Amino acid sequence: MIDFKKLAGENIALLIPYKPGKPVKELERELGIRKAIKLASNENPMGISPKSKEALISFMDELNRYPLGDCYYLRKKLAGKLGVAENKLLFGTGSNEIIELLIRTFVKSGENVVSFFPSFSVYGIIAQANGSFCKWVETDDDFKVNFEKILNTIDNNTKIVFLANPNNPTGTYFSHDELVNFLDNVRDDVLVVLDEAYYEFVDAHDYPQSVKLLDKYPNLFIMRTFSKAYGLAGFRIGYVIGSPEGIDMLNRVRQPFNVNMAAQIVAEAALEDHEFLRKVIKNNRDGKIYLYNEFKKLGLKYYETQANFILVDVKDGNKVFNDLLYKGVIVRFLGPKLAPYIRVSIGLPEENEIFIEKLKEVLEV
Ligand SMILES: Cc1ncc(COP(=O)(O)O)c(C=O)c1O
Repeated sequence: MIDFKKLAGENIALLIPYKPGKPVKELERELGIRKAIKLASNENPMGISPKSKEALISFMDELNRYPLGDCYYLRKKLAGKLGVAENKLLFGTGSNEIIELLIRTFVKSGENVVSFFPSFSVYGIIAQANGSFCKWVETDDDFKVNFEKILNTIDNNTKIVFLANPNNPTGTYFSHDELVNFLDNVRDDVLVVLDEAYYEFVDAHDYPQSVKLLDKYPNLFIMRTFSKAYGLAGFRIGYVIGSPEGIDMLNRVRQPFNVNMAAQIVAEAALEDHEFLRKVIKNNRDGKIYLYNEFKKLGLKYYETQANFILVDVKDGNKVFNDLLYKGVIVRFLGPKLAPYIRVSIGLPEENEIFIEKLKEVLEV
């Protein structure tokens, strides 16, 4: 018998795969229920932008061709919107692929990456798959990032520091001044990757203006995605902004046609759909206020969010998660280290109301 674990090596055999939120259809099939709602994966509850839909339909007949390897038109449009040179951009199959490209390109076997805990588990999974590992630095009270501790954790083998801002699963953020202070103190051969997946939802005034820092700090990379505010999670497209020299290295490693044609087309159209983005952000802001108020009435501690989800302390996260499932509401339980919490994505008004109604039933209040 072939020992596949041995063939793959220990780093792969011991890998715990990422567990995505349960799809609605699967829950409905399993429990024989109807009209389940999913508030588990920080997706866009408002669908995809009308302009993206139109663009996709009009390009249908071209999908027999290979896509543009360099995302030429999308790159041009995004560079203009961000006010950066085109050679500072690289696109990927979701920001997940960008994380993978950064690690494959810059982190060699035995070297490490650093992030803070709790944060996006994918940094650790990809590092381990690559023969490397992630050193997770505990956050302080209320999940405040301790940059001093991060600096002390970085060693001679550290290649990348991943900083999700706003953070997932907490929704919390760090400020422009905190970031600048960190960049001033970190070695310049350590890459600092800001993961700004939820950037469009942010309303904090002291949130980093990260793009403006790129010229001063060539070790800085900024990742963003079309999966959240733009509603294109199913297409898988994200991007990274960095120094032309750093982007050039990533470009050597990426597959020739890594971003499919449909994704390029819908993303380009989404950048033009200001009206849709405005509605999405308003829905999120209104939903956030509604949920905060309801949590307050229920006496539940929650963390103020800069993203499209809220972390809330329900005492026994696993039980509440499971009980909600049986009532047709999918939220996220985050594992034993975050045992008291659930994370709920902000949905449409009616979805938020159903969630609160079912939560009250589960908590018996
Ligand atoms: C912090 C963070 N980064 C990156 C991603 C990945 O996004 P995508 O690969 O869809 O662009 C997510 C998705 O949930 C996330 O929460």
